[in-house]
Amino acid sequence: MCGIVGYIGDKEATSVLIEGLSKLEYRGYDSAGIAVYDNGGVHVRKYKGRLNVLAEHLKQETLTGVVGIGHTRWATHGEPSDRNAHPHTNVAGNIAVIHNGIIENYMKIKEWLIEEKGIEFKSETDTEIIAHLVDHYYEGDLLAAVNKAIEKMEGAYAIGVICKDEPDKIVAVRKDSPLIVGLGEGENFIASDIPALLKYTKQMYLIENDEVVLLTKDGVTIFNELGQQMDREIFHVTWDAEAAEKEGYEHFMIKEIHEQPKGIQETLLRRLDKDNNIVLDGIKLTKEDLENINKVYIVACGTAYHAGLVGRFAIEKFAKIPVEVDVASEFRYRDPFVDDKTLFIAISQSGETLDTLAALREAKRKGARILSVVNVVGSSVARESDDVFYTWAGPEIAVASTKAYTTQLIAMYLIALHMANTKGTLEREGYENIISDLKLMPEKVQKILDDYTKIQHLADAQFNNESVFFMGRGVDVNVAHEGSLKLKEISYINSFAIAAGELKHGTIALIDDGTLVIALATQDRLYEKMLSNIQEVRARGAYVVGVAKEGNTEMEKTADIVLYIPDVMDELSPILSVIPLQLVSYYIAVARGCDVDKPKNLAKSVTVE
Ligand code: M6R
Repeated sequence: MCGIVGYIGDKEATSVLIEGLSKLEYRGYDSAGIAVYDNGGVHVRKYKGRLNVLAEHLKQETLTGVVGIGHTRWATHGEPSDRNAHPHTNVAGNIAVIHNGIIENYMKIKEWLIEEKGIEFKSETDTEIIAHLVDHYYEGDLLAAVNKAIEKMEGAYAIGVICKDEPDKIVAVRKDSPLIVGLGEGENFIASDIPALLKYTKQMYLIENDEVVLLTKDGVTIFNELGQQMDREIFHVTWDAEAAEKEGYEHFMIKEIHEQPKGIQETLLRRLDKDNNIVLDGIKLTKEDLENINKVYIVACGTAYHAGLVGRFAIEKFAKIPVEVDVASEFRYRDPFVDDKTLFIAISQSGETLDTLAALREAKRKGARILSVVNVVGSSVARESDDVFYTWAGPEIAVASTKAYTTQLIAMYLIALHMANTKGTLEREGYENIISDLKLMPEKVQKILDDYTKIQHLADAQFNNESVFFMGRGVDVNVAHEGSLKLKEISYINSFAIAAGELKHGTIALIDDGTLVIALATQDRLYEKMLSNIQEVRARGAYVVGVAKEGNTEMEKTADIVLYIPDVMDELSPILSVIPLQLVSYYIAVARGCDVDKPKNLAKSVTVE
């Protein structure tokens, strides 16, 4: 939930750290800080608030050293404040630490440090214990001291440490929190994520769990948990820094919404050969494997979970395999029925979501085969899976997930169709029809995007609503949930989604004059029933926005306004129907003056439980 950066080289560390942190603010933004070795000492500057608060201070409180570490925080232990901001130091202030993650046993260590060593803590964070522990073990060798400190620490963390007495070193550790090393000429870097370093290098080392890294300006040495030196292949990043910039859009979110035709195209076409056969290279699910599977579990969080719901629909429909979908934070605490006949599918944009990772490990421990659908190449979920289906959404920066979701849908459809073909549960003609329709998705999505002004006007008229209901039937309910999440996370409107058939079982009591209801009706066989549900809420005064397929114009008689999506087979409608909902959320949030890309209390990557 935090972002870390470190630099050692010949440049002024401050500017490299601020630049790197600016690309990591999506990971946390309630405070930021840096520690730089300068003028014979370790100097810390850290402030509550966004990164620009720190950057403004640094104009006055300049640091010119060439070695430093930086941090952008999303509070877990202790309120957002100057003193809880990272870096944290030992009592003498000559060892500084940045940390992303949680030290689960920090209270025990803290009590020991207070009782045995009389240490007075300056912050409420778990991180501060690391600085004192390293200090406790320090005997002139920072690497050795960090190694001893981490033996005592339990939890998930990526840390970076510098020390006044060894100004030519940064020591970093990865345990269950992301960490990469950037390689330069006469300079090296650490960071939580690739975009932080792209301005400086595209050559990276992906650090594995339980590895410790020693960086100097001229070299990087990686050690495993036994202290053995490890060889690592260089990972060459193929996308450039510009891909992670806004390219003229006002926000990353709207840029990413508009990138969906390309993301869908890439994800789809990379997996289809010239005869329309699905090629899942790297995925070794054979006919025998599939015959051995009697159940599929899809596990994920947030938007990825909603993609999983559509995935269940597709796998059950096409491949006729029973599927359970679970939110990752619940999965491992309910002793699920998982064994070596289970296929476990983890879906994650970042590949670093701790709950998803923990669920994956639990399923693996019970013998399940692990297939993951991941956007970030080389991420933890990808590395710990038996098979990986990479989505090709490109870097997603906005906290609200959009293009990752639609590419996850494509991935789930292709996985379902691959299973169906392997098991023989779908006729070739039916399969070809689905593939043809899938191939038309980029242009159909583009058509909806081109028509955004109608949605903008709707948002301008409706942005003051304080509660919004989404409803649908069949697979539309799954999309309703995603629309509702999108709206609430960026506009702070109290929204929720229900199966329209459940209305009369309670929720209709909340419908009043002017209540905004967004009704999805894209399923042909459920269309009439949805029209009845719309009438029910309108009769109670609701303002209804319908979402329907082009041609289904009779909805105009019941809804106040209808947003049309291009005609599409019912099964694939989620790829299209979510687009107007993303746009509605975006324009409502803009009209309310919200910080769309960095909504309050949220971080892009949730790497704590
Ligand atoms: O990186 P992941 O896909 O694992 O993230 C899962 C959720 O945290 C994420 O989808 C979250 O719900 C988004 N803010 C939704 O827009």
